[in-house]
Amino acid sequence: MNQPVMEGLRLNVPAYVKHQRLVAWVAEIAALTEARDVYWCDGSQAEYDRLCQQLVDAGTFQKLNPAKRPGSYLAWSDPSDVARVEDRTFICTKNKADAGPTNNWMEPAEMRALLQTGDKALFKGAMRGRTLYVVPFSMGPIGSPIAHIGVELSDSPYVAVNMRIMTRMGRAVLDTLGDNGEFVPCVHTVGAPLEAGQADVKWPCNKTKYIVHYPETREIWSYGSGYGGNALLGKKCFALRIASTMGRDQGWLAEHMLVLGVTSPEGKKHHVAAAFPSACGKTNFAMLIPPAGFEGWKVTTIGDDIAWIKPGKDGRLYAINPEAGYFGVAPGTNVKTNPNCMASLDKDVIFTNVALTDDGDVWWEGMTDAAPDHLIDWQGKDWTPAIAKETGAKAAHPNARFTVAATNNPALDSEWDNPAGVAIDAFIFGGRRSTTVPLVTEARDWVEGVYMAATMGSETTAAAAGQQGIVRRDPFAMLPFMGYNMADYFQHWLSLGAKLGQSGATLPKIFCVNWFRKGADGKFVWPGYGENMRVLKWMLERVDGQGQGVEHAFGTSPRYEDLNWQGLAFTPEQFQTVTHISNEDWATELKLHDELFVQLAHNLPAELPATKAKIEGRLAKA
Ligand code: GTP
Ligand code: SPV
Ligand code: MN
Repeated sequence: MNQPVMEGLRLNVPAYVKHQRLVAWVAEIAALTEARDVYWCDGSQAEYDRLCQQLVDAGTFQKLNPAKRPGSYLAWSDPSDVARVEDRTFICTKNKADAGPTNNWMEPAEMRALLQTGDKALFKGAMRGRTLYVVPFSMGPIGSPIAHIGVELSDSPYVAVNMRIMTRMGRAVLDTLGDNGEFVPCVHTVGAPLEAGQADVKWPCNKTKYIVHYPETREIWSYGSGYGGNALLGKKCFALRIASTMGRDQGWLAEHMLVLGVTSPEGKKHHVAAAFPSACGKTNFAMLIPPAGFEGWKVTTIGDDIAWIKPGKDGRLYAINPEAGYFGVAPGTNVKTNPNCMASLDKDVIFTNVALTDDGDVWWEGMTDAAPDHLIDWQGKDWTPAIAKETGAKAAHPNARFTVAATNNPALDSEWDNPAGVAIDAFIFGGRRSTTVPLVTEARDWVEGVYMAATMGSETTAAAAGQQGIVRRDPFAMLPFMGYNMADYFQHWLSLGAKLGQSGATLPKIFCVNWFRKGADGKFVWPGYGENMRVLKWMLERVDGQGQGVEHAFGTSPRYEDLNWQGLAFTPEQFQTVTHISNEDWATELKLHDELFVQLAHNLPAELPATKAKIEGRLAKA
């Protein structure tokens, strides 16, 4: 080993690396990208500290005031590189139908020509002047039978340090991989080669971006972005898009879901998995603190963004969090609405695109009632409340985020890294809807639940580039994260339910929630956050066959008197505002379900239009 790949480049393979196929692949990518050198991440604290210092020296990181925010850094990205780029995300299957109508598709050979093999292939020479970091990572506890290993080759040290927080990363992964273990190869470049003597910029990236998946060969190639899900390839690319296709083939689920535990005052514990679209409340729900009136109740976090869910021998569904950290939305987070999250951010955090205070700490919109008198905003400009009032400039980018280890969370569940996972009692699906969708509805059965999840709509957020606040269908909160045909995915859920049902097991109940209905004044009517416990408790009562409710066209919902209102002033009139079902609004909504079904007509399971027909029949009688 250690042979020169190209003139001047050495692979620097550590003695502990035994995997010849991995070494050969690193050599191949180093040659293709013309990386200046190769560095293998061992995942140690010393390495993390060194890379962070290197990022400080390069101007990518600013070290925050250690008295205020020990062990923490702030990065400001290029203003053009601030969120996932859904229109640049591709699923490259041999047949277009396997990617399905909701994904961007390109034929694999055509995409490979663009990225790897063509005369002007983007990855050719893309890492010139940069170090190629070899980042071995495990999604799930290292060595666990449910975990899967990936190796990301990236020219971004920012990616390397974020991956150390977000995954189990480093030498232990390679030790587990041995000399011939399976791994998902993930290639990432910011697409900004440096010519001799050329000075680097603080946040290198490229206007051209490609986030590419080959589900059939389980490969990921990402070009041009250094931000979040575009660049931290273990997260959306692997744990959702590639893993969803693995789950289809192997009989399990990879979902955009938080997983939480709820323990009652009597000590009974339930587990719930909830899918909300990006920036629609998963992290907040996963860290919920029960409000007044719920003394003795406790909510604990297993995961805040992704769940891998597998059927157990007993016919129940077991969920693990494949991640080891949180890459969470900063704006809106504060000590009142999410004290557990704020405590998680006390130390050892990487902040990206939040504002810098004059005393070397961070701030974002919604952190405190009053903004500081002066800040440096996420674009490095002076910011004052007066400037904001005049220009509308945000101190923090709306998709500003924090990267922090799960072990920083005071509400971390004791089972959070149990390789066996936790048994799921209920699935919750929720969108961000100012109108139409009521606070909570229980599906009468699995098929009705799959219908609810499949037809869910949500207003777009800053988590993805593009227009915000537009209602779009976001089936299972998976629209941007599906690795295969959405209609086949619906069938996968239906088949799994049928199979588990036949085994005699009790299936998890399925609920649909909406924390975001607005009143005539344009403000959220439901107080949300910790108060969501009131709805959660009702759902668990239903799981236990106890809670009361009324049936309507779409399912079963609680009446005012069915929820515990102790400790909250919320009137029956307000409750009516967040639960009212308007036949007119639902006629419009069902037309949107129709549009989705037309789009997904190829392979659409017949149960879904049949369920819709039943709903329409009930609405006509209402
Ligand atoms: P991703 O990390 O993008 O997948 O997002 P997420 O689903 O984890 O969303 P998160 O919990 O970070 O919340 C996003 C935004 O929604 C934040 O600004 C929150 O303050 C806000 N939010 C979360 N929960 C609630 C709620 O119950 N009510 C209201 N009104 N806003 C909420
Ligand atoms: C999301 O957009 O759903 C996220 C953030 O969780 S990112 O990792 O950037 O995809
Ligand atoms: Mn997410």
